[in-house]
Amino acid sequence: MAKTKTLFFCQNCGAQSGKWIGNCPSCGEWNTYVEEIIQKEDKALHPILKQAKENNKAHLINEIDLKSDKRDSTSNKELDRVLGGGMVPGSLVLIGGEPGIGKSTLMLQVALKMKNKKVLYVSGEESGQQIKMRADRIKLSSDSFFILTETLTQNVFRQIEHIEPDVVIIDSIQTLHTDYIESSAGSISQIRECAAEMQKYSKVNHIPVFLIGHITKDGALAGPKILEHMVDTVLQFEGERNYGYRILRSIKNRFGSTSELGIYEMQSTGLHEVENPSEILISQRDEDVSGVAIASTMEGLRPIMIEIQALVSTAAYGTPQRSSTGFDLRRLSMLLAVLEKRSGFKLGIKDVFLNIAGGIKVDDPAIDLAVISAILSSSEDIPIEQKVCFAAEVGLSGEIRSVNRIEQRIHEAEKLGFEQIFISKYNLKGIDLKNPQITITPVKKIEDVFRLLFG
Ligand code: TYD
Ligand code: MG
Repeated sequence: MAKTKTLFFCQNCGAQSGKWIGNCPSCGEWNTYVEEIIQKEDKALHPILKQAKENNKAHLINEIDLKSDKRDSTSNKELDRVLGGGMVPGSLVLIGGEPGIGKSTLMLQVALKMKNKKVLYVSGEESGQQIKMRADRIKLSSDSFFILTETLTQNVFRQIEHIEPDVVIIDSIQTLHTDYIESSAGSISQIRECAAEMQKYSKVNHIPVFLIGHITKDGALAGPKILEHMVDTVLQFEGERNYGYRILRSIKNRFGSTSELGIYEMQSTGLHEVENPSEILISQRDEDVSGVAIASTMEGLRPIMIEIQALVSTAAYGTPQRSSTGFDLRRLSMLLAVLEKRSGFKLGIKDVFLNIAGGIKVDDPAIDLAVISAILSSSEDIPIEQKVCFAAEVGLSGEIRSVNRIEQRIHEAEKLGFEQIFISKYNLKGIDLKNPQITITPVKKIEDVFRLLFG
């Protein structure tokens, strides 16, 4: 018998080496090298993967027919949008997310709604009964939905040959393994080989394949950085566990823009598409409270109104605390320093807590002005009127800076019935709005805002 051949693979980035190394030269991580058996057996490829080889030839670009490769709807508006307008035949899509975020639920839901298509759902994690139970829970059923609980790719292809599905979903790529390679399921070489087989299958047969992938606790797709290169589209499903909102973001997309995103809400009957996120993210208040300001932000290409809540109080213990949820803590410290140094507000001895309602994370600098206004409102204990909102960045010298897509932001505020929006004076030039229903208040410095809001 031939000697077993092994190689060491970095579990973070997939780099390989003949001997063990402590510090990966490729991604810089420590202790990520693991020995894997990579002896490839000379088994013939499954026939389904081989079709293309013989009759493959070069084509002139003008001869390539795009019509036959038309996009199909997934019957889920948000997912279609994130994919760039639907599924592309022969595309390989990776959906990553933390455990329990709802990846399986989303794909099951999508699969059950595609009534006119034969869908094969390959599960290596749950039994057929469990999936059926979940389908009952989300109250969907379908006559063209097949479940296969299998982890060996060769068996998966055998079933694919038999069923001839229109769409294939793999839950999850980490549970698959191929006979072709000897190392254990979930190892880098297995993941790479299985994904490569799926890729071949999808390209040769023009079938869209969705791969579900796990994410490590620091947010990287577990192991498979390599996967990101192989697939056509990488979607990330994210959200705070304790809140119902889930955001589906595209990180890479060969067939569309990466700035689109889909918003869902996890309910007891599955994931529901959220068409008007602004209406949900802003809390309904009967009376004015201090420390609340509304910002008009952009998530991808969509304007969303979000609510910023601040609490400023005298530090009870020696060192003042700064805490922030959904907003970068360093940016908060910077804004506080600007308030202190440039505008003379004494916040150095105060505790400051900041929270973005709804559990979403925002890194759009255009919410700076709302953050500052919420802090000042809490500090002065004077509420900001409910029909007022903000869209501007704050610079280090306390100047109010312009932001991109200002018209869309104003339009969203207008649509939701806001009566006044504070923007940067420098944003006025580019605006082309036909008689807006909303009062646009241009400001130049933090003091201007303070004077207008709190007199
Ligand atoms: P799941 O799809 O299993 O997550 P993943 O595949 O990403 O690991 O989602 C599991 C969570 O979603 C679980 O904690 C229960 C919750 N859930 C609901 O709240 N409502 C539902 O209708 C379903 C099906 C799940
Ligand atoms: Mg799952």
